[in-house]
Amino acid sequence: MNILLLGSGGREHAIAWKIAQSPKVDSLFIAPGNAGTAQVGTNVNIKADDFESIKSFALENQVNMVVVGPEDPLVKGVYDFFKNDEALKNIPVIGPSKAGAQLEGSKDFAKAFMQRHHIPTARYKSITAENLEEGYAFLDTLHAPYVLKADGLAAGKGVLIVDSLDEAKKELGDMLQGMFGDASKTVVIEEFLDGIECSVFVVTDGKDYKILPVAKDYKRIGEGNTGLNTGGMGAVSPVSFADHDFMQKVEDRIIRPTVEGLREENLDYKGFIFFGLINVKGDPMVIEYNCRMGDPETEVVMLRIQSDLVDLLEGIAQGNLASRVLVKDPRYAVTVMLVSGGYPEAYEKGKIISGLDQVSSDNILFHAGTKLEQGEVVTNGGRVIAVSSYGTTQDEALAHSYAGAQALDFEKKYFRRDIGFDL
Ligand code: AMP
Ligand code: GLY
Repeated sequence: MNILLLGSGGREHAIAWKIAQSPKVDSLFIAPGNAGTAQVGTNVNIKADDFESIKSFALENQVNMVVVGPEDPLVKGVYDFFKNDEALKNIPVIGPSKAGAQLEGSKDFAKAFMQRHHIPTARYKSITAENLEEGYAFLDTLHAPYVLKADGLAAGKGVLIVDSLDEAKKELGDMLQGMFGDASKTVVIEEFLDGIECSVFVVTDGKDYKILPVAKDYKRIGEGNTGLNTGGMGAVSPVSFADHDFMQKVEDRIIRPTVEGLREENLDYKGFIFFGLINVKGDPMVIEYNCRMGDPETEVVMLRIQSDLVDLLEGIAQGNLASRVLVKDPRYAVTVMLVSGGYPEAYEKGKIISGLDQVSSDNILFHAGTKLEQGEVVTNGGRVIAVSSYGTTQDEALAHSYAGAQALDFEKKYFRRDIGFDL
């Protein structure tokens, strides 16, 4: 079959790498892709949210399945666009409907959904300009630090965690007045939860689900989890504290009620669900939902799926996921992200990346922000390349990735040397 994958980051390169290994695939197209995806498929110069161009391409190239990497096209309704189009309706889209994607697209929706289905999450209140006083009153009932979240998508920047009550009240007002544009016209105020986080992913066909390998990502730019938030500096899988008991609670209290809740509410959902969880004294609670895979978690999760991913995707599309088999690789997998100096603030692009042909076969390189320019691979983003590796222990996998991180070079390269330190 012919598959079209939407997106252009490290997550998409990792998904493309895995899809390309399937004997079921004839052609793999990536729109728009990057220099890495071009090694495992054919890049197509179409933006992931340009639905009309995607339509023409899919019809002209006999695409049999569309796999959606990032949240944007999902929240904008790419699933519904295909479903409601006479010519496209038989091409399955792996990802939720626009209504289902609200689990990520609206924090207010997600919190109310969790409340309706008794899914453990932080206490909260949703505030708009109309009930600002209630927001102040709710903040008065909480203890520092205070968590304020823009309701809508804000490119991963919409969450503020502030230490003082006065500052929280001021930030709440600023958010409602458009700090994140329309995304913060509604703000979710949450109780702060203290614990260690992990990322749990499932695939679902809307009835059944399968739990993919658990991962943990490292979001801060600095070692010891300090400094500004980034799109992710590295990830590991498995996660030591996500043991059998913990995962049983996750499945019983969070995963099953979520999939059943989506079904009860007739929210069409055939794709990935990402549960951002926090372990509060042994009990899992939901920090957030995403309607897609995580980045850079995917750069380790794909390594740990031994069975054919395309077989699972077919199960999602055909509604018979229960009959498909997911085999996990018992090894450890880690990834270390190489980023441009200055990121997540201002940084330069267009730096030549050297050493790509010198990394050892222990490394699997996933391009995040790269492009081909006159035959050279150059940097094209803040996050540049994820260096993934296997190991029989986490330390062994890390040693491989760090050797690869040293072998690759570009001007002002930076990476964290402590991925996995807290496990
Ligand atoms: P989110 O975009 O909702 O995942 O939030 C971004 C980050 O803020 C999370 O990964 C957590 O580290 C942190 N965070 C969000 N909500 C809470 C909370 N209620 N308590 C503690 N930390 C939180
Ligand atoms: N790694 C977190 C995310 O993809 O949102």
